[in-house]
Amino acid sequence: MNTARLILDTRRRVAPVPRRLFGSFVEHLGRCVYTGIYEPGHPTADQHGFRRDVLALVRELGVTTVRYPGGNFVSSYRWEDGIGPVDQRPARLDLAWHSLETNAFGLDEFMRWVRAADVEPIMAANLGTRGTAEAVDLLEYANHRAGSQLADRRRANGAADPYGIRLWCLGNEMDGPWQVGARTAPEYGRLAAQTAKAMRRFDPDLELIACGSSHSSMPTFGTWERDVLTEAYDDIDLISLHAYYQPVDGDLPSFLASAEDMDRYIDAVTAIADSVGAIRRSTKKIMIAFDEWNVWYQSAAPSTPPSGEDWPVAPPLLEDHYSVADAVVVGGLLISLLRHSDRVTAACQAQLVNVIAPIMTEPGGGAWRQTIFHPFARTARHARGAVLDALRDSSTTSTDRYGEVDVVDAVSTWDDSTGEMSVFLVNRSADAPAEVTVEVGGARVAGIVECVTIGGGDLDARNTADGPDHAAPRPNGSARDTGTGIALTLPPASWTMARLTTTSS
Ligand code: AHR
Repeated sequence: MNTARLILDTRRRVAPVPRRLFGSFVEHLGRCVYTGIYEPGHPTADQHGFRRDVLALVRELGVTTVRYPGGNFVSSYRWEDGIGPVDQRPARLDLAWHSLETNAFGLDEFMRWVRAADVEPIMAANLGTRGTAEAVDLLEYANHRAGSQLADRRRANGAADPYGIRLWCLGNEMDGPWQVGARTAPEYGRLAAQTAKAMRRFDPDLELIACGSSHSSMPTFGTWERDVLTEAYDDIDLISLHAYYQPVDGDLPSFLASAEDMDRYIDAVTAIADSVGAIRRSTKKIMIAFDEWNVWYQSAAPSTPPSGEDWPVAPPLLEDHYSVADAVVVGGLLISLLRHSDRVTAACQAQLVNVIAPIMTEPGGGAWRQTIFHPFARTARHARGAVLDALRDSSTTSTDRYGEVDVVDAVSTWDDSTGEMSVFLVNRSADAPAEVTVEVGGARVAGIVECVTIGGGDLDARNTADGPDHAAPRPNGSARDTGTGIALTLPPASWTMARLTTTSS
């Protein structure tokens, strides 16, 4: 029997829950924008063409920030193409995804959508085919009050008030050979530093994200971070990490333990950033923006339009159809992000709609939740207050990819204003349940509010447009109050959330 013990104390905290951890990503890619969030003529479309059924699901998902407009797309994007009267905007070839970009949706539409969705924008500037001048122009258009040519253009385009965008990505995946305008680390580091300096002349309080590695298996991983930070340490605030997971050769145990890779990746980049800081004798700490993460079956759904389709508009690309196992992994990745909330202060699940996404749409039809929607929505809603520094003692299991790992992974949050405690747990064993006890110090457990689990049955079950609630969390009746905490049983390969009320002890 696998067992685990989780010891929590409400006085031992990692950090306040960074609400920006529950970010998402909208790229001009496939059907994320067109027939995703934006579909004029759709029965639910509002006066701006925004699908209200999608907006409702975005709110239910609990997304706090949305990164835009890419991704690989941004590296050859001209932001000015997407402003002004729609019928005068140019159609352009999108070199990243071999698609035709109509530019019917651009910055002003995005900012209108951001307000409707009640999320914070993260704006990416093109440092692939463009540079400092265009990034500063974009900043001026977006954030300057009035009286300059670009600010007045925004006002003429209907936005009297500046957008006040605080978080900016300085390019995207500039280490990747697939990126239009990819650079070496010193080249990119200098460009990022120069662009950041220029942007700060406009507003010193911007929060600027430099590109880290595209994933931890990049040949330049580690030296890239070191070299970029050596150039740009004083000028930027965060460094980005990207990671996508999928089962390799059907290796389910390793896939279920994907958060192990995320943990190690975050720890490695933190160590590298701190070593650059130490060499500079800097007291500043660089934070991490994990601004692309998810499960992605990279070879399953097409990432380029099917042959014969030449530069199509919004073709269906990267439309992964997620299983229960994928939802368990997504829940585990969120646990890893929360555990590192002293250093990971922003994160974006990639992406929001249709493209490797928790929300799917039918053009002209309905919108529905994929399996991965559920752990995200529950975590975003109930991870409140502070992340607790959990002491974990778990049975272990061996994986081909990560060696011996804890069977049970978990994290907990506690909100001192409400007394609500949430515990998020994953059982990574594919075939055995786990008996877990959670011991709580610093507060008294007054009751179990809710305990739900997804997994433990058909790991391949998926939701569809016709069966949108087929695979969703169900009540876990095993949770019981032990007087000093709770005890519960986690089915094999499952993600669980338990919510408790506490009173002062
Ligand atoms: O999210 C899909 C793509 O993955 C993004 O465009 C790119 O940044 C990453 O490689």
